[in-house]
Amino acid sequence: MAELKAPRGTIDRFPPYSERCEHVIKCFVDACRAHDYRIVHTPTFEDTRLFTRGVGESTDIVMKEMYSFKDKKGRDLSLRPEMTAGVIRALIEAGRRYTGQIEKLAYYGPMFRYDRPQKGRYREFFQVGIEAIGDTSPYLDVDVILLGWDYLLNLGIKPDDMVVIVNSIGDAEDRKTYLKILREHLKKVEDELCDDCKSRLDTNTLRVFDCKNPKCKELVSDAPRPLKHISSANREHFDIVIKMLESFGINYRIDEDIVRGLDYYTHTVFEVFPTGEEEASQGALLGGGRYDGLFATLSNGELDFPAVGFASGVERVLEAVDWDSQDKKAISELDFYVVILGDNAKSQAYKIVRKLQQWGFSADIDYRAGKLKSQFKRSEARNAKSIMIIGDDEINAGIVKFKPSKDKEIELSLSCFDMENPPDEIMSPP
Ligand code: HAM
Repeated sequence: MAELKAPRGTIDRFPPYSERCEHVIKCFVDACRAHDYRIVHTPTFEDTRLFTRGVGESTDIVMKEMYSFKDKKGRDLSLRPEMTAGVIRALIEAGRRYTGQIEKLAYYGPMFRYDRPQKGRYREFFQVGIEAIGDTSPYLDVDVILLGWDYLLNLGIKPDDMVVIVNSIGDAEDRKTYLKILREHLKKVEDELCDDCKSRLDTNTLRVFDCKNPKCKELVSDAPRPLKHISSANREHFDIVIKMLESFGINYRIDEDIVRGLDYYTHTVFEVFPTGEEEASQGALLGGGRYDGLFATLSNGELDFPAVGFASGVERVLEAVDWDSQDKKAISELDFYVVILGDNAKSQAYKIVRKLQQWGFSADIDYRAGKLKSQFKRSEARNAKSIMIIGDDEINAGIVKFKPSKDKEIELSLSCFDMENPPDEIMSPP
């Protein structure tokens, strides 16, 4: 049988990589707490129609990247390529009544896209994201962008090392008029566009601004951009967003070419890139925007609530972090590593580990025992903060040797491990 391998574009996550992933999620959750967003979980697979209707039939995600399948009863299902549509579907299904309060939800989990695997681009990847539902306020757009910013700051990325690229594509009305103008412009050069752009001309016209083909780039360089064609009220909305980003000292840039690849966007759209890498193939650290029409689309017009959010690829962010300065925080430390000298000490050593765990510490034991030097080495590999040594001599003397650091050693009485609370020497080592 051929050698079994993880499917192309997927990653097996061992420590420390897996711990770095956890750390990224933790930094995200901390930012969510600060901005009052609360966790929601939705299914990993959904009715395929959720994405064709929600994300858009003519988007790359739906046309090229979905993992779709039939279940045993012939239902058309897809692994979620993103979570925004699922969260809105879940809210509609839950029949929540919106009495004016804003629903601020956050999530993390695996997403699936049949993308071309490369650095920062996987077929199964983790996203963290938020959705703020129930208000059209531009200040809510700002809150969403700031949360994304704070999450990246929590990871130790410096403010000068990242930039928010922001744009407004207006509302559905603006879009109707604007798309007419854009199509007229593009029809003049239609023959010279790449096949992808040609096929999207009538269905997903805005995507021409995302095309990487140099010829297309040149052809659209003087095409009209959405921002110049939005209503004055919508321009005002955008101006408030910009003014607030400015006042908070966020490193931002308006880029009229940012249109985003999903159909549901309206008004503010944004992406965050590592500085100087906007064009890099691994793409944005996070992306999002307002999507005021999605509720109506997914509820057949029954509900109509505005919303705004973003999502961020955990692996991609992980690759942008300077882990040399972060590793200590990211890789889990073990409070105690218990070293055993001699077979007779084994059962006593297990009791000590158990007690340390009950006291609320993390503790592990060297199951292999053997030479002291090898056990010390293994404790280092496990990133242990301190060591307990127990051997036959210690048991006879009624003590345990406690090494809070490499060059310190104190003796603890074995009887202290019968106590309900840890002794002072453990809580604050000399
Ligand atoms: P998106 O731009 O498709 O937006 O994805 C958001 C982020 O997910 C990207 O900026 C990137 O960091 C990460 N990402 C996307 N594809 C991959 C991949 N193949 N491998 C690794 N990372 C990837 C959305 O998904 C929207 N649902 C965001 C949103 C939420 N808009 C409003 N609310």
